[in-house]
Amino acid sequence: MTPPGSHSASSPVDRPAWKALVAHHAAIRDRHLRQLFQQDPSRAERMSMEAVGIAFDYSKHRATPETITLLVALAEECGLRGRIDAMFRGDKINVTEKRAVLHVALRAPRGATITVDGANVVPEVHAVLDRMAAFAGKVRSGEWKGHTGKRIRNVINVGIGGSDLGPVMAYEALKAYSDRSMTFRFVSNVDGTDFAEATQGLDPAETLFVISSKTFTTLETMTNAHSARAWALKGLGGDEKGIAKHFVAVSTNAAEVSKFGIDTANMFGFWDWVGGRYSMDSAIGLSTMLAVGPDRFREMLEGFRAMDEHFRTAPLSQNMPALLGLLGVWYANFFGAQTVAVLPYEQYLKRFPAYLQQLTMESNGKHVTLEGTPVAVDTGPIYWGEPGTNGQHSFYQLIHQGTRLIPCDFIAFGQSLNPLGKHHDMLLANVFAQGEALAFGKTAEEVKAEGTPDWLVPHRVFSGNRPSSTFLLEKLTPFALGSLVALYEHAVFTQGTIWNINSFDQWGVELGKVLAQRIIPELDPSTPQPTSHDSSTNALIRRYRAMRGGAR
Ligand code: F6P
Repeated sequence: MTPPGSHSASSPVDRPAWKALVAHHAAIRDRHLRQLFQQDPSRAERMSMEAVGIAFDYSKHRATPETITLLVALAEECGLRGRIDAMFRGDKINVTEKRAVLHVALRAPRGATITVDGANVVPEVHAVLDRMAAFAGKVRSGEWKGHTGKRIRNVINVGIGGSDLGPVMAYEALKAYSDRSMTFRFVSNVDGTDFAEATQGLDPAETLFVISSKTFTTLETMTNAHSARAWALKGLGGDEKGIAKHFVAVSTNAAEVSKFGIDTANMFGFWDWVGGRYSMDSAIGLSTMLAVGPDRFREMLEGFRAMDEHFRTAPLSQNMPALLGLLGVWYANFFGAQTVAVLPYEQYLKRFPAYLQQLTMESNGKHVTLEGTPVAVDTGPIYWGEPGTNGQHSFYQLIHQGTRLIPCDFIAFGQSLNPLGKHHDMLLANVFAQGEALAFGKTAEEVKAEGTPDWLVPHRVFSGNRPSSTFLLEKLTPFALGSLVALYEHAVFTQGTIWNINSFDQWGVELGKVLAQRIIPELDPSTPQPTSHDSSTNALIRRYRAMRGGAR
C-alpha cells in the first residue's frame, strides 16, 4: 500500500510530456486568443478537423499546435493506443469489478468477433437486437395487445441513472422521428410525484411498462416498479395474468426479474460488460426503439460504430474523441478549470447535458489510480449546461465576465428539424456569436470608442480569451446522435487513461445507498427513536418522524 499523498509510478505528472506541458503552459498561458489568431491566419484551418459527419473547431482554445503535439505525446506516453486496443479486444480493463468494458460490442456489425471469456459476444448482441426489433414492431403495429385487447398507446420506462438518462435523452433527441400517436414517459425518482405525474391521465389497459435496471435491485426502480404493478393491476381489475402483457424487463439479472413476476420470455438482456452509463444502445434503449422504430435505432448504432472506428483507427493527432479528452485535461490540470459547460444549440438535445453528467462524472469522478494510490492531479471536471439560446439569458454572464475559466462545448446543426422562418439562422448566429465573444471579448479601447463614460468602461469590458469547442453537424439524425454520444464516451476514456483511473466503476455511490437502507426503518414513528447516528442526522430523523406522524 502506497502511503497517502504519494502517487504511483504511472502518474501522468512523471511523464516527460507532462513536464513539457507544464513549461509550455507557463509560456503560453497569458497569450490572448486575439494574438494567437492574428499571428496565424491559418489557425482555424489548422486547428479543426472533420470526422463521422462532425466538424470540430478547436481553434478557439488557449492552445497552439505545439500544445496539441504535447498533449498527443502525453496520450502516447500514457499508453492510450494500447488502452484503446485493450478495450476493443474485450480485456477486463474494469479492474475493480473484474469486467470487460465492451459498449463498443453493442454496435459491432453482425459478422464481427469480440471475445469475452472465450465466447464471441457479437451474436448475442444481435440476437437481443433482433428480439427487441420483433417486439417493437409488434407494439408499434398494434399486434401486441394489452390484457383487455386494447392496443398499447403509452410506454413508461422505469429506471434510474444509466437506465433512465440515456432513454430519456435519446427519446427527447429523436422525438422528431418518433411515433407521435404513442406517449412516452419516464419514471426515475423514488419521489412518488414522479410516478404520479408519469401515469397521470393514462389508461392502464393501454400502458406498457419497461422496467429497466441492470441489476434489478436498485431501490428507486424496484419501488417504482412495484407501484407500477399495483397501478396496472388496479386498472386491469386485479387480474394477475394481465401483468404479462403490460410489463417487460430490461436487465442482466434474470433471477430478480422472475422474482419480481415478469416472465423472462418478456425480458431483454444485456451483460455485465456494459456499464449503466454506457448502456443506452443496449436493450436499455428499448423505449427508444419503441419510439423511433428498429430501423432508426440501427441508424443510431451506425453512428456509434462510425465514431468507434474513428477512435480506434485515427492517428491521435487527428482523433476527435482523443483531442476532446486531451483538451479537457489541458484545462482541468494546467489551467485549473473546475467545470465544462455543454451548450447544445438544438432544443431536442435539452437532456444531453444531464446525460453527459452521469457519463463524465460517474466515470471520471475518482480519487485513486488503477493501482489504488491517490491521484496526483484533479480528475473529472464538473459537466453542466443547458440548450442555447436559453442559457445566454441566464448563466452566460458568468462565463463571459466572471472570474472563473469555463471551457464551453457548443453543439449546433446546419439544418433544423423544424424550419420556421428565420429561427434557425438566428439560432446559429447566436452560437457563432457566443464563441466569438468569448474568445475575443471587447477591449476598454473599443468600449470607450463607443462613447461609454469612463466610469462605466470596466463594467462593459469583455476580457475574452475564454475557450470553446464548436461541433457543427449537418442535422440531428439518429446517426448523428450515436456519433455524438460515442464521441463523449471515448473522450471520457481518453481522460481516464491519462489520469490512470478506472472510468468504469462507481463505488462512490455505495455509501449513501447503504445508509439510506439503514435509515428507512428508523423513519417509522412506532420504532424507538434512533440514537446511533451523529447528532445532526438523529435530529433530522426525529423532526421528520414528528412531521410524518401516522401518515403513510
Ligand atoms: O447508483 C449508480 C448506478 O449504479 C448507476 O451506475 C446506474 O446507471 C444506476 O445506478 C442504475 O442501476 P441499475 O440499472 O442497476 O438499476
